[in-house]
Amino acid sequence: MDFSLNETHSMIRETARKFADERIAPGTIDRDEKEEFPREIVRELGELGFMGMMVPEEWGGSGLDTTAYVFALEEISRVDASVGVIMSVNNSLVCYGINKDGTQAQKEKYLRDLASGKKLGAFALSEPEAGSDASNQRTTADRDGDSYVLNGTKNWITNGSTADIVLVMTATDKAKGAKGISTFIVEKGTPGFTVAKKERKLGIRSSDTVSLSFADCRVPAANRIGAEGDGFRFAMKTLEGGRIGIAAQALGIAQACLDASVSYAKERKAFDRPIAELQAIQFKIADMATNIDASRMLTLKAAALKDAGEPFGPDAAMAKLFASHTAVESALEAIQIHGGYGYVREYLVERYLRDAKITEIYEGTSEIQRVVIARSLLR
Ligand code: CAA
Repeated sequence: MDFSLNETHSMIRETARKFADERIAPGTIDRDEKEEFPREIVRELGELGFMGMMVPEEWGGSGLDTTAYVFALEEISRVDASVGVIMSVNNSLVCYGINKDGTQAQKEKYLRDLASGKKLGAFALSEPEAGSDASNQRTTADRDGDSYVLNGTKNWITNGSTADIVLVMTATDKAKGAKGISTFIVEKGTPGFTVAKKERKLGIRSSDTVSLSFADCRVPAANRIGAEGDGFRFAMKTLEGGRIGIAAQALGIAQACLDASVSYAKERKAFDRPIAELQAIQFKIADMATNIDASRMLTLKAAALKDAGEPFGPDAAMAKLFASHTAVESALEAIQIHGGYGYVREYLVERYLRDAKITEIYEGTSEIQRVVIARSLLR
């Protein structure tokens, strides 16, 4: 196995690190407090080519591999996980999904702008009663001539109110269950499509999470991705790649916890010496570093399999399961190392815990990742 980074990967990592430290870091605490969407930063990420990293250049993307995407997303999320999830949903769910299964016309009309960052996308699968049980779709799309009429509600949609384009999964034939679900590209401003509610969240507070409502919302049949009834498979395949993105996001948060802990432990004195000299602190840092390295290996393995065209779903699930747990544990330990400073909002570490928790929930909870892993072994 080759653990060295190629020239492109090193360059992407350096670019992402510099942008994160110089452009994203100032204002993270403020944006989190005010729940302020980082519009300008997202625009600049588009200019850098980070909003459609894996999309071929002919469609406005950067034509990079998943490994490059993992490095970039880790660096961005190390500084601000809210920016990380905005980037992740646009890249690994929306752009990836249209690039993989969209028609030429759909790519022409939507992918170029999404991949170049001129437009932003969202992915609307979850519903009030369809979270983990994703095939239990209540939102319907009824065929009417050359269009479909959508009715229903989608919940917890990242980028939901800021997105120009939303991929919406709906039931086109409820009797067929998972085989009766279809995916549609819905444009912002389509009559009957409204933002119903903005969520007030524990973490990733400067990202945009809303409910969406569809009331007799008419969408052209030409906007259906794939065949009628193919929507659940489409969502599951797309989420396999999405889970690599969330693993990279979790990895970034965990790395931030380690960096903060190492530098604080060297500076902070107790009992007349830096706390870094205390074995209680050293063990926490050693465990954090080991779990972070293991998370990175799992994430890069899933990315390498995806890039090689091999099956990677269970590996992506393992990477997300392990990296998200590592992010939460690292954040708890970072707070413990920082003591009182770790618990107050002027410092970064309390946010790491609030941001880390969602990585165990979205794009499939840790329980769902275990289902995916176990099914792959026991079928
Ligand atoms: N690839 C291709 N096909 C797949 C698939 C995959 N990865 N997973 C399932 N399918 C197919 C199955 O093969 C099956 O078809 P057949 O009957 O022909 O074999 C069909 O889909 C139904 O599959 P299951 O019977 O396995 O379906 P299930 O109801 O038991 O659900 C599940 C399986 C793994 C629990 C799935 O529902 C799941 O992953 N749930 C979690 C949903 C999720 O991750 N939501 C995240 C929301 S998006 C988000 O969070 C984005 C954001 O904003 C950040």
